[in-house]
Amino acid sequence: MIRFDDRVAIVTGAGGGLGRSHALALAGLGAKVVVNDLGGARDGTGHSDAAMQVVEEITAAGGEAMADGGSVTEFEQMQAMVARTKERWGRVDILINNAGILRDKSFVKMDMTDFDSVLQVHLTGSANCTKAVWETMREQQYGRILMTSSASGLFGNFGQANYAAAKLGILGLAKTLTLEGTKYGIRVNTLAPVAGTRMTEDILPPESFQAFAPETVSPAALFLVSEDAPSNAIVSAGAGVFQTAQVTLTPGIRLTGDALSPDGVAEHWQAISNRSGEIVPQSVNDQIMLIAGKLQG
Ligand code: NAI
Repeated sequence: MIRFDDRVAIVTGAGGGLGRSHALALAGLGAKVVVNDLGGARDGTGHSDAAMQVVEEITAAGGEAMADGGSVTEFEQMQAMVARTKERWGRVDILINNAGILRDKSFVKMDMTDFDSVLQVHLTGSANCTKAVWETMREQQYGRILMTSSASGLFGNFGQANYAAAKLGILGLAKTLTLEGTKYGIRVNTLAPVAGTRMTEDILPPESFQAFAPETVSPAALFLVSEDAPSNAIVSAGAGVFQTAQVTLTPGIRLTGDALSPDGVAEHWQAISNRSGEIVPQSVNDQIMLIAGKLQG
């Protein structure tokens, strides 16, 4: 049975929505939880004591938690959060990078400050928190990190150029940290949730909110930060439906002579994009090996 006794977890953006659900679930299974949230509005403006309220919920249920009102966009604040966590509980085993904001607009209407702010919170924010715990996890030879991506980043979504760019950036971060963390016992996974929260209140029909409750997503989050978690997984979760996504590469073909031309690529497009026998590269090396194989063959 998955339990988190003696584990210390940080969940960013845990003052509401999915983060709150992950934090409550972790605490319910024995983890000591840092509930981070600056308590802003959906677009990231303003502050509130949202983190404190979730801490009160956890302690009322008999769990152990501590509030942190720092912003994930400020590296020093994340370092201070980690220092306070270690002072109180001595370690950090789990980090769930979940904080997020929305500034949706079609690209033609998108102001570059809206582009930058979304990247700052999601992408730089995830890197800031991860960097703040990385050395500790390496020293402990144990760490579980969960990134929060989105179907918008994996597949695209109209009106979310900023958000989608940030969310796919997070996947690149996760994939590289998987490689760098393995030998130190650090596993890194990515969640692409679908949930009824304030973020989706104008997307999901109100009647589906209950089916898409954050609590239907958290089981995947908890599995992905558990002792026996996989690494490098991309898991989509919503309404109790769990799926995995992969970044794949078709075998492709090698063009030489006259065919090594724009016309040659056009002519062979079907073979180039033929998905039969495609692979899921685990790193750049897998692609290089594939190309090398074609040079020999
Ligand atoms: P939410 O708006 O309820 O939660 C986001 C939380 O992050 C808020 O409590 C907010 O105050 C906090 N936050 C924002 N900026 C912060 C900062 N700089 N520092 C610390 N905390 C900050 O939204 P929801 O839906 O719970 O989203 C959680 C994560 O899941 C986000 O990363 C979101 O992009 C992602 N996601 C959600 C989906 C959904 O269907 N709800 C779909 C795909 C991804």
